[in-house]
Amino acid sequence: MAESMNNILKILNVLILFISKWFGYCVAQQIPLPDTFVNPSFQVAHYLWEGKITQIVKELNKVKKPSYILATPYHSLFISSFLDDQVLYVSDTRQSGSVVRIFTSGHGLDGPWGMVSDGTFLYVASFTTDRIHKYHLESGNFAGAFGSEDDSLDCPEGMAIGPNRTLFVTSFLNDKILKYSLDGNFLGVVADKSNGIKGPEDVALLSNGTLLVSSHYTNRILKINSTTNEFLGEFAKVERPVGITVGSDRNVYVTSYVTNSILRYSGKTGELIDVYASGGGLSGPSSVSFADYRTLYEASYDSDRVVLYNSTSGLTFTLPGRVKEYDAEGTFMQGSQKH
Ligand SMILES: *[C@@H]1O[C@H](CO)[C@@H](O)[C@H](O)[C@H]1NC(C)=O
Ligand SMILES: *[C@@H]1O[C@H](CO)[C@@H](O)[C@H](O)[C@H]1NC(C)=O
Ligand SMILES: *[C@@H]1O[C@H](CO)[C@@H](O)[C@H](O)[C@H]1NC(C)=O
Ligand SMILES: *[C@@H]1O[C@H](CO)[C@@H](O)[C@H](O)[C@H]1NC(C)=O
Repeated sequence: MAESMNNILKILNVLILFISKWFGYCVAQQIPLPDTFVNPSFQVAHYLWEGKITQIVKELNKVKKPSYILATPYHSLFISSFLDDQVLYVSDTRQSGSVVRIFTSGHGLDGPWGMVSDGTFLYVASFTTDRIHKYHLESGNFAGAFGSEDDSLDCPEGMAIGPNRTLFVTSFLNDKILKYSLDGNFLGVVADKSNGIKGPEDVALLSNGTLLVSSHYTNRILKINSTTNEFLGEFAKVERPVGITVGSDRNVYVTSYVTNSILRYSGKTGELIDVYASGGGLSGPSSVSFADYRTLYEASYDSDRVVLYNSTSGLTFTLPGRVKEYDAEGTFMQGSQKH
């Protein structure tokens, strides 16, 4: 009896040794960030990623649980700092003297998540209070709030601006997608759990008017006709999707929370193209936003970090050999220039 016990202990010992060795191996495999500081707010590291992309990683040291990120074509960044109840702002990440400042806090903003802009206002979802806050983009002044539990808005997260000045809002806790006018009028429920939505985190519009919804707990991106609210079925399968954005190449970029990666899907067919980006300390990615066709900013929720992917593969070629460089699109609308 005692001997067999001894044997079991021996086997356990070997097992523990193996596991700790293996764990140590995994840790040793992580590439440390070089101590290269370009400015006080960002840490920048260069290394090759799969031999084809130069990856630059920038770390923002002030942000606590970045839930959402919005990049502008001028490389300004709006960052929802979920735990600090603040929206942070960097005016130009390319400038070495660029500092991070608080764009807004207060007015009841509690757990900021999704952000969109119509060129005049910045709309911010206040997760804990079930409200959508509105701020003047230039001054940062508070311009009111709308939404309530009466509209069945329950823990809003990602948002998207639709045609005719409409706003699509994910209502995370009750598995709904709601529609508002940008003036704050409630326009009804677009989709709910009867469409297979569970834990909606973000929405994005394809150029043909299809609304994409990331349904976190069912591992699906779903399609909805944004005009008629007709449910159009599955767009793609993604493991624990959170943030979605549509690139200027018309492809769809989704953060996969558990695989710590940004996946790229064909905007036409929904087929997986590749793992577009990973690494750089990306952990629990929550949101993606393009500044231009080759610069993708990524909110890394679990590592309190903002990661920049500078891709040299963001160019598309049109025959006979001309490079087509699209204007920035993504989640930020350039006011009158756009529509
Ligand atoms: C656009 O929005 C306005 C105001 O909400 C509404 O009265 C109008 O019917 C909408 N137009 C279309 C085409 O949906
Ligand atoms: C949405 O429905 C309208 C009306 O049936 C149709 O004309 C339009 O093409 C549809 N759009 C999408 C993206 O399915
Ligand atoms: C819009 O694009 C989506 C995705 O490519 C596709 O499934 C849908 O059929 C398109 N709708 C129309 C009306 O073209
Ligand atoms: C991206 O990389 C290119 C080439 O190295 C560089 O010229 C450009 O400034 C970089 N962009 C950003 C935003 O870092």
